[in-house]
Amino acid sequence: MKCDRQTLPIATIREENPSLRTFSFKGKLNAQPGQFVMLTVFSQGEKPFSIQDVDDRSFSMTIKNVGPFTDRLFQMKVGELVSVRGPYGKTFSEKQGRVLMVGGGFATPPLRFLAKSLKSAGVEYLTNINGARTATDLLYADDFQEMCDVSLVATDDGSMGYKGTSVDLMEIALAKEKYDQIYISGPEKMMKAAVKVAKQYDIPYEVNLERYMKCGVGVCGSCVMDPNGFILCMEGPIVDQDALKGLEDFGVSHRGKTGRLSPL
Ligand SMILES: Cc1cc2nc3c(=O)[nH]c(=O)nc-3n(C[C@H](O)[C@H](O)[C@H](O)COP(=O)(O)OP(=O)(O)OC[C@H]3O[C@@H](n4cnc5c(N)ncnc54)[C@H](O)[C@@H]3O)c2cc1C
Ligand code: FES
Repeated sequence: MKCDRQTLPIATIREENPSLRTFSFKGKLNAQPGQFVMLTVFSQGEKPFSIQDVDDRSFSMTIKNVGPFTDRLFQMKVGELVSVRGPYGKTFSEKQGRVLMVGGGFATPPLRFLAKSLKSAGVEYLTNINGARTATDLLYADDFQEMCDVSLVATDDGSMGYKGTSVDLMEIALAKEKYDQIYISGPEKMMKAAVKVAKQYDIPYEVNLERYMKCGVGVCGSCVMDPNGFILCMEGPIVDQDALKGLEDFGVSHRGKTGRLSPL
């Protein structure tokens, strides 16, 4: 098995909000929207992160500080070394035509990369719905504004845009306009609700799933989903409507570090 590992210094660190930072690296990564890398912080092991941007010479990930690994990363400075292997996983299909993206919380990084790619491919019409708890938690509001034909915002507390969820806004958008394809990335319960709406309108959709990943390359079995043994790190993380039908875990349960199944 080929292992594309690069050891690189952190090139820039941008604070998105108090708990989210975008880390960029100078290096070539032949990645497509939806893919992820395994990032090593020496002394803390290796963890998966979605790619939020790539160009000819650099790439970046937006990361939330949630535990020991990310906490150590947040203590690091520009110039300190990490190691990256990848990219891994299945990409978004990147259908053209009229496209709706629905994002929630800190799962929007792959949608930012997707918007950039769709725009450069000359997509006919692109709407993004970006949801978060509060205005402070919203990611990439200016970027989506620039890259999409329509950029809508929903916050739970109404501190920016529509007061409600991104799925509420999705229903409003679909009642007004026709779309050919929907791409969804957010907390799993939010994605489950969004899938229900996409089904009502009979529009093809893809979701971005996360499970506990240790190897990222189909070897360890930690990301396998029930009941059919779907290997998310290789057959996902982007899952289309046909593959999703077989995944009883979706929106219901997941396996943690030890492999034990627990409710979401
Ligand atoms: C394909 C994929 C893409 C991801 N992209 C991003 C991203 O763009 N930005 C981001 O901030 N986070 C992303 N994550 C989640 C990220 O991997 C975890 O937040 C990180 O591993 C937490 O490590 P920790 O030691 O800081 O916290 P921990 O205390 O270990 O965990 C905090 C939470 O993260 C989950 N988690 C921990 N380790 C993993 C792991 N190896 N795989 C999956 N979940 C884990 C735990 O179940 C727990 O809910 C992604 C996960 C996957 C599977
Ligand atoms: S993370 Fe090891 S098989 Fe998927």
